[in-house]
Amino acid sequence: MPAVKIDGKAMAEEIRQELAREVDEIKKKGITPAMALILAGDAQDSALYVRNKAKAGEGVGAYAEIHHLSGETTLEELLGLIEKLNLDDKIHGILVQLPLPPHLHEHEKKVMSAILPEKDIDAFHPVNIGNLLIGDRCFRGVTAHACVKILEKLGVELKDKHAVVVGWSIEIGKPVTQMLFEKGCAVTMVHPEAGFTPFTKQADIVIAEVGRPRAITGEMLKPGAIVIDTGANWVDGKSVGDVDYESAAGVAGYITPVPGGVGPMRIIMLIANLVQAAKQKAGLS
Ligand code: GUN
Repeated sequence: MPAVKIDGKAMAEEIRQELAREVDEIKKKGITPAMALILAGDAQDSALYVRNKAKAGEGVGAYAEIHHLSGETTLEELLGLIEKLNLDDKIHGILVQLPLPPHLHEHEKKVMSAILPEKDIDAFHPVNIGNLLIGDRCFRGVTAHACVKILEKLGVELKDKHAVVVGWSIEIGKPVTQMLFEKGCAVTMVHPEAGFTPFTKQADIVIAEVGRPRAITGEMLKPGAIVIDTGANWVDGKSVGDVDYESAAGVAGYITPVPGGVGPMRIIMLIANLVQAAKQKAGLS
């Protein structure tokens, strides 16, 4: 039997509606969740992502403003803008779209660490990452959180499942490993350059962050596995995942498509972080 295709768009819409109701309630108390999105440079894809993030915020009734800096902007200008937004009481969430222009690449960590942890809706600040590890309240990386939400929405009992995470980034692999561990999974994190097949073959859940198109195929999976594909690779004019959907769907029990799986969930989890930031600032959670 072919795998069930997980509808990330429908799941994201359910969460959008829940968040819109929450925002309605917060607005009655005189607070409008507000985020500032910073885009440096003119990369078309980054500009589109930023517009989509703003639209997603507006879609729940939040306020979003885009700060578009030139591709030649200096580190001082960028840090100055972040500082101004840190001090702005009306702004609850700040996001700097990556990648930064080439001359600022080496300063990425400094830029991300300049955002106040309580406004860091991307959850890239070392304080948020550290708090996740020690089990304290924090923002959760949106893609990692999207993977866990998908599993929760499927109604999967996570306790005692073996999850294999192929990937290690600070945005996905590391936080999703921790979040699944918190849920009672046995988690194995494998480097994408290591031989991961012996691990994926035993996995009840596979989280794919391989960074290469169609790198995980059906024969690398255990029958009935749940496969969550965080990849987005541009191949022959279309977006394809890190999992070879066709062969994997013949073996897996559930699988996320690309596009339409993790992608729509990522963006709504960012908005969930914004709503959380606004509630925390107002002492409502
Ligand atoms: N560029 C690609 N993905 C992301 C993301 O999740 N956050 C930010 N800030 N930039 C990105």
